[in-house]
Amino acid sequence: MEIQSIKQRFGIVGNSPLLNRALDIATQVATTDLTVLITGESGTGKEVFPKIIHQLSTRKHGNYIAVNCGAIPEGTIDSELFGHEKGSFTGAHEARKGYFEVADGGSIFLDEVAELPISTQVRLLRVLESGEFFKVGSSKVIKTDVRVIAASNVDVPIAIEKGDFRQDLYYRLNTVPILVPPLRDRKEDIHLLFRKFAADFAEKYRMPPLKLTNEAIQILQNFYWPGNIRQLKNITEQISIIEKEKEINSAIIKQYLPEGPKTGLPILYKKEEEHFSERELLYKVLFDMKKDMTELKKIVLDLLEEGDNSTIVEQSKALLVKDFYDEPIIPEHKPQTTENNLDVSSSQTDNYEGFQESEVIEESLSLQEKEKEMIRKALEKHSGKRKNAADELGISERTLYRKIKEYDIR
Ligand SMILES: Nc1ncnc2c1ncn2[C@@H]1O[C@H](COP(=O)(O)OP(=O)(O)OP(=O)(O)O)[C@@H](O)[C@H]1O
Ligand SMILES: [Mg+2]
Repeated sequence: MEIQSIKQRFGIVGNSPLLNRALDIATQVATTDLTVLITGESGTGKEVFPKIIHQLSTRKHGNYIAVNCGAIPEGTIDSELFGHEKGSFTGAHEARKGYFEVADGGSIFLDEVAELPISTQVRLLRVLESGEFFKVGSSKVIKTDVRVIAASNVDVPIAIEKGDFRQDLYYRLNTVPILVPPLRDRKEDIHLLFRKFAADFAEKYRMPPLKLTNEAIQILQNFYWPGNIRQLKNITEQISIIEKEKEINSAIIKQYLPEGPKTGLPILYKKEEEHFSERELLYKVLFDMKKDMTELKKIVLDLLEEGDNSTIVEQSKALLVKDFYDEPIIPEHKPQTTENNLDVSSSQTDNYEGFQESEVIEESLSLQEKEKEMIRKALEKHSGKRKNAADELGISERTLYRKIKEYDIR
């Protein structure tokens, strides 16, 4: 099918070579059964690609299921994707089919695939390689014939480096990569897109469409567009609603772009408050250090427990505990029977862990307060938009959902 008619059919505006290249790959690969990984910054228009691929494939009469992996809680994602047996976990009153079973003969779009927990990544790799999977709580192998199309707006190789994504799964998913270009690399499409959105909003709000002066067009073309097409669409909507004057000159347009003078108007994607993420980083480092220390202390104690020189063990334990907690724990002297030795060590460990817990709890309480405050700030800054707030905090949308619930943030 011609690229132009695909654009028309799927409402895609733009004619830049990079966009055309991405669409060309999508149409070529559609008729094969290959797995496709669509990457591109947030707001570049990735979501239409899996629809094109499914619709132009021989599976078009089969089911098409789009799953936002970032929005499903970690605890239920396996069951959503692969289904579960009755009674496999608390609340599993009925057996349930997962998306991979429902989409048999069709396609699955795994959006934000880099957000999948590692254990789910293992299951996904298996189904990609063999077409087989298990329901949660079942050992019966189920076969399925599903074409997988995945998308990510994070750099997957970086996620691999951080240990958040399996390399083997990346290679398997990335059989055919499609890169959706950022808007700043599609300058020639910016005015086209603005006109399309302005016409849509004029119709929606029953008003004459906006028109840009040449200077205003230049300004839009030279803007960085960190939020890509989504940001352009939002700004066009804001201007459509707020501006009475429908000819938009450079002075007006500047007010809607982040670099513009502060006007009190809603401004998107402000680049400010560098200290915000710096502070967040510091807390992360502190928290990780604390965790390492606690683990280290536990390891040392375990090692000491295993040693057979009981005098050294007790002395070292007392020292170790003294160093960290000021209060030395003086080991009680017990008769040297095996049973009693065991008793001594377990009561020591209990004691030690009592200290350890109270300190960790105290520490994490104040960290929690900071975390709460940062989440609140980020949500406020992004007018409650969780996705943007999560991006700013450098955490996944799912983690943010969880934390909002956990801290009861409104
Ligand atoms: N070429 C296009 N023509 C018209 N509208 C577009 C085009 N590309 C994207 N859009 C619109 O821009 C918005 C953002 O697109 P989309 O949701 O596909 O982004 P995305 O790449 O999936 O972003 P994210 O990674 O944040 O999920 C949508 O409203 C979409 O309709
Ligand atoms: Mg998307």
